[in-house]
Amino acid sequence: MYQTVTAEIVEKLKEICGARNVIFNDEEKLEAYSHDEVAEKEYAHMPEVVVKPGSAGEVAAVMKLANELKIPVTPRGAGTGLSGGAVPIYGGILLSVENLNRILEVDLDNLMVVVESGVITNDINEELKKHGLFFAGYPMSLQSCFIGGNVAENAGGGRAIKYGVTGRYIMGLEVVLPTGELVWFGGKRVKDVTGYNLVQLMVGSEGTLGVITKVIIKLLPLPTAKVDLLALFPDIETAINVVPLIMTKAGIIPTGIEFMDRLSVTTTHQYLGEKMAYPETGAVLLIELDGTSQEQLRNDAMAVSELLMENGVIEVYAAETPDTQEKIWKIRRNVAEAFKAIDPVQTLEDIVVPIASIPKVIPMLSGLSEKYNVLIPCYGHAGDGNLHATVVKKAEMDMETWKKVLPQVLADMYRAVHELGGTISGEHGIGHKRKEFLPLVMGEPEINLMKRIKLAFDPNNILNPGKIFDIA
Ligand code: LAC
Ligand code: ZN
Repeated sequence: MYQTVTAEIVEKLKEICGARNVIFNDEEKLEAYSHDEVAEKEYAHMPEVVVKPGSAGEVAAVMKLANELKIPVTPRGAGTGLSGGAVPIYGGILLSVENLNRILEVDLDNLMVVVESGVITNDINEELKKHGLFFAGYPMSLQSCFIGGNVAENAGGGRAIKYGVTGRYIMGLEVVLPTGELVWFGGKRVKDVTGYNLVQLMVGSEGTLGVITKVIIKLLPLPTAKVDLLALFPDIETAINVVPLIMTKAGIIPTGIEFMDRLSVTTTHQYLGEKMAYPETGAVLLIELDGTSQEQLRNDAMAVSELLMENGVIEVYAAETPDTQEKIWKIRRNVAEAFKAIDPVQTLEDIVVPIASIPKVIPMLSGLSEKYNVLIPCYGHAGDGNLHATVVKKAEMDMETWKKVLPQVLADMYRAVHELGGTISGEHGIGHKRKEFLPLVMGEPEINLMKRIKLAFDPNNILNPGKIFDIA
């Protein structure tokens, strides 16, 4: 059993972090830390106290105290997560890294940047732009999410086919262990096989193994040329069928191939108050190419367009200026927000399949939609097989039926995805939203091994308990 946070404990936390960095007895302020971006209210939970340490030393002192007293601690970045990972489901201490917000070093000689975990991801790239460099991670929430959260969730996003996901660029981490020790994993070394790869064990561990306080990130030269193709299709099948062909037949690996079905496009236009330039469209692909030569990109764009033309596209538009490119990407980045604003009775999913299986996902979703009488609009990172199928309740369905039907829809969907060689989360994580479904795609030996790793880091199970799996 966990200990509750008493006034006396709050005094100790104030001594560690400073009184103005502790929130207690203030429902309104605490409420902001009770949820992430998950639409469904049932996943929210109030923290007993919020602390905002200003240094790794303060984080360590908080962890040490919590471990001694057996109080749960939930680390939190910007709260843009989509699986309840930063929600304090056992109450206790919510540890926000928002005050750890400094870019510490742009190391031009090593092509790396050292930042604290509470820096907004896009701010890193704004700083790096001056030096012609960038961090290649591109989560859709990059204008608000924190780099520490990106590492904890191994954030994916819109450029994974070419650049991979967050973990590829994470070279070193300063971490506070659940027991309060301050440690460094990795460093500014391109190669390193000195012991286990604890850096990559932390990546994607959803805040269950340690609190990330500093991050060393590998940088790339900023591409100087970019083309975005907006391809309109009569229907989703035609759009999605061409996705693997772009890579396997045209022999081009774009920066990203993003997909939106009709409902995603129309809903987001409405939400942003934008007029749809092409109201007839049945589905859209957004294909981005980047590099160092505009001429090369034009040739690649031509080759991709030809392939699209052979495969049923209605129209292809090329956006070559930053303004028009941002206009298109803004629509794409806002789909999740748009659906959430319209109706919270939905679940945003994050399934992922191998690229050859991408065309099989849409018919599978249509089948489920019909079988269970729910809407399943779909958008996402088609190029890497990571699709945001969003199960939405129809107006005519009552809540009781929805509550009964939804777990069945999800279990069917996850099983089907598993059969295709895919899994239930490509980038949002298991959190506490999907933990009951983990055994559908992962065996007992694997899950038990993860539990033993968890307990090796956190013998008292106080750091972000109840996420990914439950420990008896
Ligand atoms: C996106 C978020 C939901 O791709 O992952 O928009
Ligand atoms: Zn996504």
